[in-house]
Amino acid sequence: MSTQKYPVAIIGSGNIGTDLMIKVLRTDGPLEMAAMVGIDPGSDGLARAKRLGVATSSAGVDGLLAMPEFNDIRLVFDATSASAHVHHWNRLRDRGVRVLDLTPAAVGPFCVPVVNLDAHIDAPNLNMVTCGGQATIPIVAAVSEAAPVSYAEIVSSISAKSAGPGTRANLDEFIETTATALREVGGAQRSKTVIILNPADPPVLMRNTVYCLVDGECDHAAITAAVEAMVGRVRQYVPGYELRQAVQFETFDVDAPLCIPETGKFTGTRITAMLQVTGAAHHLPAYAGNLDIMTSAALATAERLAEHSTTTIRAAT
Ligand SMILES: NC(=O)c1ccc[n+]([C@@H]2O[C@H](COP(=O)([O-])OP(=O)(O)OC[C@H]3O[C@@H](n4cnc5c(N)ncnc54)[C@H](O)[C@@H]3O)[C@@H](O)[C@H]2O)c1
Repeated sequence: MSTQKYPVAIIGSGNIGTDLMIKVLRTDGPLEMAAMVGIDPGSDGLARAKRLGVATSSAGVDGLLAMPEFNDIRLVFDATSASAHVHHWNRLRDRGVRVLDLTPAAVGPFCVPVVNLDAHIDAPNLNMVTCGGQATIPIVAAVSEAAPVSYAEIVSSISAKSAGPGTRANLDEFIETTATALREVGGAQRSKTVIILNPADPPVLMRNTVYCLVDGECDHAAITAAVEAMVGRVRQYVPGYELRQAVQFETFDVDAPLCIPETGKFTGTRITAMLQVTGAAHHLPAYAGNLDIMTSAALATAERLAEHSTTTIRAAT
């Protein structure tokens, strides 16, 4: 469908903001990269934006509001930190722009595009959860389609080199927001999140392990098919997203239950999916799939919002 141009701005010129800017510039879609905003005039991200012909400000959200380009901007991505996002939202909420929050601030509803974007298509502020959430919640949602998930636990491992100061300041928010979204969007009754910043050199690729517990027996073929179909849907916007091996099933019966410290003895099925995300190497090298899964999810969401806005305008005229 042809869509009018949809000018966007990014606040936060670090790892996530720079990777997203490159994607917007390289994608032949409705989004038009109108402004990049930071707080550090000497930052590499702002310098790169200038070199690429993008208007910049180093005066934060107030600098963005004062830019002549602001009047045309339809959507603002926030790639700063959870605490800064609360301030940004207060400054932007009455200014007629949509806001896509790439921090784990969780001000707006959670959005995992393959699972629930349509439910929040008109929300003024959408939260993109976390990189670990974007990689694992689709899998939990797929298992939930086939069987009730009483518990989901995910372990995300990313290279320490790909976690900027903004990410490091937000590790508690990462854990809390991901665990909440595993329940609210993934459908798990209980959840736990673990993140590892791995300092290994050469850097490791982003890996995610997803465990789902289902009480009693379940249909292995239906769950495998649902997970594989979901991986295919995520790959449409993150080509480097893949299952590392077949989905695994382990059964625990009364004679040999699984002992869980918080809840005691579990009998049923543990489903394990192991995922790897190879990045597109737009800003950092391919090991940083964690950048790619977040910025690709945000890009896909913004493109859908742009398309929706054109449809809404057409329907109103
Ligand atoms: N790195 C990842 O893998 C990853 C993945 C998904 C989400 N996130 C989230 O994205 C956010 C950014 O992470 P990052 O790794 O890019 O961090 P980063 O430190 O590399 O980038 C943050 C940038 O925001 C700028 N900034 C901070 N406060 C600002 C403000 N008030 N106004 C304008 N600019 C401001 C900083 O100067 C910096 O350039 C964090 O909330 C993080 O949790 C990170």
